[in-house]
Amino acid sequence: MVHLLYGLYIFSTAVAGDLSQALNDFIFRPNLAVGLERGNSQNSTNVEDLPPIVLVHGIFGFGKGRLGAMSYFGGAEKKDDRVLVPDLGSLTSIYDRARELFYYLKGGQVDYGEEHSKACGHSQFGRIYEKGNYPEWDEDHPIHFVGHSAGAQVVRAFKGYENTSANWVLSITSLSGAFNGTTRSYLDGMQPEDGKSLKPVSLLQLCRIGVILYDWFDIQWLKSYYNFGFDHFNLSRKKIGVWGLVDCLMGKTGPFASGDWILPDLTLQGSIRLNSHLHTFPDTYYFSYATKRTRKIWGITIPSGLLGIHPLLFIRVLQMSQWRHPSDVPPPYKGYRDEDWWDNDGALNTISMTHPRFPVEHPSHFVGKDSECQPLQPGIWYYKIVEGDHVLFIINRERAGVQFDLIYDSIFERCRKHAFRKTLPTLPNQVHQ
Ligand SMILES: *[C@@H]1O[C@H](CO)[C@@H](O)[C@H](O)[C@H]1NC(C)=O
Ligand SMILES: *[C@@H]1O[C@H](CO)[C@@H](O)[C@H](O)[C@H]1NC(C)=O
Ligand SMILES: *[C@@H]1O[C@H](CO)[C@@H](O)[C@H](O)[C@H]1NC(C)=O
Ligand SMILES: *[C@@H]1O[C@H](CO)[C@@H](O)[C@H](O)[C@H]1NC(C)=O
Repeated sequence: MVHLLYGLYIFSTAVAGDLSQALNDFIFRPNLAVGLERGNSQNSTNVEDLPPIVLVHGIFGFGKGRLGAMSYFGGAEKKDDRVLVPDLGSLTSIYDRARELFYYLKGGQVDYGEEHSKACGHSQFGRIYEKGNYPEWDEDHPIHFVGHSAGAQVVRAFKGYENTSANWVLSITSLSGAFNGTTRSYLDGMQPEDGKSLKPVSLLQLCRIGVILYDWFDIQWLKSYYNFGFDHFNLSRKKIGVWGLVDCLMGKTGPFASGDWILPDLTLQGSIRLNSHLHTFPDTYYFSYATKRTRKIWGITIPSGLLGIHPLLFIRVLQMSQWRHPSDVPPPYKGYRDEDWWDNDGALNTISMTHPRFPVEHPSHFVGKDSECQPLQPGIWYYKIVEGDHVLFIINRERAGVQFDLIYDSIFERCRKHAFRKTLPTLPNQVHQ
């Protein structure tokens, strides 16, 4: 109920915001034109030369253009001259999103890869980006990524394509990033046995049915407003008819049948699978903010407050802080301990957000004060632990208050001032040892 109400609340806020914007434009049209003209004549200091900072949303997220004028990042994109906010599927898998992100930037038709699309039962080709949002993107024109939640994993997940290399990415900043999965996926309905299938009765089952119906009815204006990103699965009633819907609901076809959606990637097993081929690269800068809304009292982990936690997450913070992996099921990895996973922010476990740890731990450095980590070294995950729940830094900036500005200002400042290539990338005709 809480989730549904919150979803409706967000949706209606977006609609209301749009309506008032439309009304405003209608009444104040002349003023708007003046404003635009002034904007143009102002000397922008070579915005074109700045590497873009790309903000990548998480689960149930949306990019610029969806949900009207609403901003997933609470308007943080206005803090810098060159920020891109792509709209990737809100429930699609890490793999699919990483592919979409690449074509969103570079331009062209999204290619999910032949092997992958066959295995997962969707079309190989997806949306067409007539013009990339950063077509010049390459080693000499690298970019900065900032990912929230699952978005942080998405930016690490692109396997490479023709002549891409790690040097295309200057820095990665993670806000509550889902590097090592979350025990919440089991609470919501993933089976702890395999981290892939769904429990027959669970929140995620409801979500699954809702999403299938939403995509099947395929109401154009609704979908342009909000899209789960499953268009490449052809779930529309016009394409699969009533029997297709039945097959989907029975779990024979569709993303939920093949496991090509976000939740399997957020289980501990799924993350280990992903991480086994994701690297931390020596020339890329990494920074991560892990959020936490729990504390220990007499050895018991409990939520660290009542009012500071978003109502959507309070019960989850409590449940995750008590999580016990079922004793009759093999642990997700060797050396797994429940207590390591008790600190959380209502959606992810704090241990999962600092840096990639499983199946092998990547280099990391805990940061107390910002000044400790300058000059910033590439190839190391600097991380900070922030008292806050999972949605503190998105959607609604008022909730985080001054912390909101502190965090985003320091992220953008770091991208602009502290993360850069010291040496020119080696030219192709220079030695590769
Ligand atoms: C402003 O723009 C003009 C032409 O577009 C250029 O000649 C001038 O140098 C710019 N000034 C600054 C301060 O960038
Ligand atoms: C989806 O529909 C398109 C055409 O409408 C078709 O080309 C594609 O093969 C279909 N994909 C699947 C997985 O059925
Ligand atoms: C790969 O590099 C070659 C030569 O530098 C270039 O012609 C080609 O367009 C590049 N491919 C992509 C996808 O960027
Ligand atoms: C988290 O993922 C990284 C790889 O991305 C891995 O090195 C690390 O061991 C993982 N940690 C845990 C606790 O799973």
